[in-house]
Amino acid sequence: MDNTIQQRQVYLSGKMVPESEAKISIFDSAVMLGDSLTESTRTFRHRPFRLDEHISRLYRSLKVSRVDPGLSPSELTRITLEVLDANRSLMDSDDDCWIVHNISRGLMKPGPSTSQTNAATIMIFTNHMDLRGWVRYYTEGCHAVTSMSRAVPAQSLDARIKNRSRLFYTLADTEARLVDPDAQCVILDVDGYVSENKGGNLFAVVDGELLTPTTENCLAGISRETVMELADDLGIDVREARLQVYDFYTADEVFFTSTPYCIMPATRFNGLAIGDGRVGPVTQRLLAAWSALVGVDIVAQAQRQMA
Ligand SMILES: Cc1ncc(COP(=O)(O)O)c(C=O)c1O
Repeated sequence: MDNTIQQRQVYLSGKMVPESEAKISIFDSAVMLGDSLTESTRTFRHRPFRLDEHISRLYRSLKVSRVDPGLSPSELTRITLEVLDANRSLMDSDDDCWIVHNISRGLMKPGPSTSQTNAATIMIFTNHMDLRGWVRYYTEGCHAVTSMSRAVPAQSLDARIKNRSRLFYTLADTEARLVDPDAQCVILDVDGYVSENKGGNLFAVVDGELLTPTTENCLAGISRETVMELADDLGIDVREARLQVYDFYTADEVFFTSTPYCIMPATRFNGLAIGDGRVGPVTQRLLAAWSALVGVDIVAQAQRQMA
């Protein structure tokens, strides 16, 4: 463990503690059942981006999952900012961080019921925003590959609940990487419509219009929302629709959106070139607009980490 990690302060159920002292029980529902809700927010220039939206989404996930966090949204926001402040000195001036919230139903009580009987376990930590894994996709685009596993239907688990039961996403990612070790998975729902990636939303540009799946089968991503707003500002038409793989094979441009990388262009879909096989102009305009919005050149920041 290097010095930087030792110095990190994390929040665990009421206390700020050094990372090495943050321990949860093996009987916590997060461990026993993969039963926890989550958020990942990032900073730009060390300021949290859309924290209120992330906290609101977290409270919606908690409500639908019937987990009582024992804190109000404003208390959780205050604690979150304290965690960020406690770790500010670990960030280089050029870099940013993630702020992660994990909230579980708390200690499990053996017996017939899995409903909450104890205080929720609240975990908040920051992490260095390491963008190196995505950096070349900004210029080359990634290979989007459909997985064999299909999305869990909303009738079983609504994709808008941002949760940590990630086995299904991990399987989908692993399957796509059987085709290309460098692939980014595209998960279809049980009816064959495109839903999302293991950690991102999808967009296709078709005849100048921006298309994205409806939240019937994907997370209502904050980055997705940001792109829709930026597109609106740029006069690019946006439409939420049920989309099929055909729409992605024949799109002019395709990209993913997610908190860490913001926009990740894709230039191949299941082995076929998307458009002319290069990162397209609409994707580039949106990335530039996002950089302008936050005062950080998103691509340059990632590229500097490779130096
Ligand atoms: C399954 C899934 N879809 C989409 C996203 C993108 O959401 P956001 O833009 O809020 O990061 C995430 C983020 O982690 C995710 O886990």
